[in-house]
Amino acid sequence: MGEVLLSIRNLKIYYYTLSGIVRAVDGVDLDVYSGEWITIVGESGSGKSTLAMSVLGLILPPGRVVEGSILFDGVDIAKAGIEELRRIRGRRIGVIFQDPGAYLDPLRTVGSQIAEAVIEHRLASSWDEAWVKAEEALELVGVPASRARSYPHQLSGGQKQRVAIAAAIALEPELLVADEPTTALDVIVQAKIMELLEDLRRKKGLTILMVTHDIALASEVSDRVAVMYAGRIVEVGGSRRIVESPSHPYTRMLVESVPDVWVKKPVRSIPGDPPDLRRPPRGCRFHPRCPLALEECRSKQPPRVPMPGGGWAECFLAGMEYGG
Ligand SMILES: Nc1ncnc2c1ncn2[C@@H]1O[C@H](COP(=O)(O)OP(=O)(O)O)[C@@H](O)[C@H]1O
Ligand code: SF4
Ligand SMILES: [Mg+2]
Repeated sequence: MGEVLLSIRNLKIYYYTLSGIVRAVDGVDLDVYSGEWITIVGESGSGKSTLAMSVLGLILPPGRVVEGSILFDGVDIAKAGIEELRRIRGRRIGVIFQDPGAYLDPLRTVGSQIAEAVIEHRLASSWDEAWVKAEEALELVGVPASRARSYPHQLSGGQKQRVAIAAAIALEPELLVADEPTTALDVIVQAKIMELLEDLRRKKGLTILMVTHDIALASEVSDRVAVMYAGRIVEVGGSRRIVESPSHPYTRMLVESVPDVWVKKPVRSIPGDPPDLRRPPRGCRFHPRCPLALEECRSKQPPRVPMPGGGWAECFLAGMEYGG
């Protein structure tokens, strides 16, 4: 693995709502290594987007970072000022979202939107130079340069997502945060976008931090997977280890909930619902749904147990052989 590019420590992000304090991220530690593709996986509402947005310094009220740090090249993004963030966000840390339509201006050509960002971040000194960079970025993501003169509505969903990736890549970021980038697309387009990201990672030495609810997709495309449950990362490890020998009962249940096209096997859904993050369960947050819960799981925070080959799992039973 490369050097640590991003280091998150004891991060807590709460939303202060009228109906209570939502503990969306509650004690997350995570290192992202230069050049790797790491994916955060978890059910809807587990805090994945909140965590991803915090890396961009984009936690808006009623949300607030209440504790912890997000170190990127010596800068703590959790405490950085507007000027400091401006130099990092977009420029050194790029982002793509599930719905590219939401941040492409419908009234302007995609080329001019990319070129404008290039100028804004002083990566070109003239509009012509910026326009050439925009066309190059589009070509790099497999969109013909002639499409620079198209408006967003003239593009398909897959093409729009490619344009969004081009817009991010044109600023030559070191880290790309991708929050459910293909959830709105069909599986064929999804596979092509994943291939494109992998290609960019190799060509540009990009580091990728992706977020998805799909553990099959995560393990297929990434080097490492971090499993998030109720505001905490409960297991981290190499993708292969995570799917072949998951250690945390929740990871195991996520893996078992994936239908297998080739082998007929019973698909088990995870019983129960994710907890209300205004009142997360005491002890291990997974205990109300865990088939293996022990008495101590109800009151004590489980330890973080290192796994052979790297990574860890946060469970009293981690590292022990158990049936289930
Ligand atoms: N702006 C907000 N105001 C209040 N609560 C929020 C806000 N954004 C997210 N939440 C809550 O924070 C929790 C985590 O949400 P989110 O980070 O979007 O999870 P995920 O991306 O895993 O679905 C959820 O309980 C969600 O309802
Ligand atoms: S700590 Fe206990 S409740 Fe939590 S996942 Fe492990 S066995 Fe289940
Ligand atoms: Mg989300």
